[in-house]
Amino acid sequence: MLMVYPRMAPRPLRLSFRRPRLQLVFIILLIVVPISIIGIVNHGQKVSYFLRPLWDRSPEPFQKLPHYYAENVSMGQLCMLHGWSLRSEPRRVFDAIIFSNEVDILEIRWRELLPYITKFVILEANTTFTGIPKPLYFAKSRRRFAFAEEKIVHDVFPGRVLPYGSHEDPFELESDQRVAMNGLLRRAGISAGDVLIMSDTDEIPSPHTVKLLQWCDGVPPVLHLELKHYLYSFEFPVDYSSWRATVHIYSPWTRYRHSRQTDLILADSGWHCSFCFRTLQEFVFKMTAYSHADRVKRKDFLDYSRIQKIICRGDDLFDMLPEEYSFKELIKKMGSIPASASAVHLPASLVENAEKFKFLLPGGCNRAAE
Ligand SMILES: *[C@@H]1O[C@H](CO)[C@@H](O)[C@H](O)[C@H]1NC(C)=O
Ligand SMILES: *[C@@H]1O[C@H](CO)[C@@H](O)[C@H](O)[C@H]1NC(C)=O
Repeated sequence: MLMVYPRMAPRPLRLSFRRPRLQLVFIILLIVVPISIIGIVNHGQKVSYFLRPLWDRSPEPFQKLPHYYAENVSMGQLCMLHGWSLRSEPRRVFDAIIFSNEVDILEIRWRELLPYITKFVILEANTTFTGIPKPLYFAKSRRRFAFAEEKIVHDVFPGRVLPYGSHEDPFELESDQRVAMNGLLRRAGISAGDVLIMSDTDEIPSPHTVKLLQWCDGVPPVLHLELKHYLYSFEFPVDYSSWRATVHIYSPWTRYRHSRQTDLILADSGWHCSFCFRTLQEFVFKMTAYSHADRVKRKDFLDYSRIQKIICRGDDLFDMLPEEYSFKELIKKMGSIPASASAVHLPASLVENAEKFKFLLPGGCNRAAE
């Protein structure tokens, strides 16, 4: 017998359900749209950083060279582990930095690298990258660096003073200084085959890394250094994201740069301590003077008491989100950096002078005003 199942017939549209839903959507839009607009106007940068995984692609990944080191292992064994061979004598090493105001980190850097370096080449401008006249912090405190005096090659870069609110790109003034550095290196006596370290003052290669590169044959002509990144002091380790420092086997075509130059990066090669200043005044100087001065969105960003609180909490000075290219990494890195109690595997010059540099060690987050 044939059965008819009325339920199988097409159902009429259930309009009664749709209306309240439409209303709900409308009400939600009415609330969400104005809040979003207010949010985007007030926190535009934050919103765009949060959405970075949607609009930006991560830079091409590096090819990481494994890095071998342990105390007392012979140079011959270390070179061999990297696929290189031991030289009969070490290469000369030139350490070239464009200096701003990091005098304490500079002292730690130079004391750390002193035995390995032929010349410390340091270029210091009399204006900031943002075109503001600036004291010659190195020249003023030169006596402090007497321990390295015979290796220092220093010059002053005559910067341009820009009118307030000028729209000139700070990165352009920065690139002029890199050109001047090429000349200074030649005057310092660099020649083909020497090792040249190109980095910011606060990007410090570890001594064993420098020794490896000067004692081994077969080292690639250009190599980025992966550095452990710290913020404010060695109490706040961030990650291993620092890659801009490079080591070159110098040739007449080598040009001073601080950007991506090759795909090769040597793992775990030293320390990058950002904003590792002794005084709050130095924080304010750096915040207004360096290439990202546009991140100072509000005047109270420069309040000493605000900065002090942020340093001790391991928070962000510019109230920004981490620069990450996937939501997973972004969310993992959001919020404060947890304080570390480890002062192991830090520069020997820091541990040796722990009292003098206690603001860079665990428990030392309180800063003097000036
Ligand atoms: C390292 O080598 C030195 C000199 O050869 C030796 O005196 C010292 O005991 C060694 N240290 C370790 C940890 O093996
Ligand atoms: C920077 O130095 C140059 C050369 O010594 C000088 O002409 C210029 O006036 C200086 N600028 C400032 C802002 O001090």
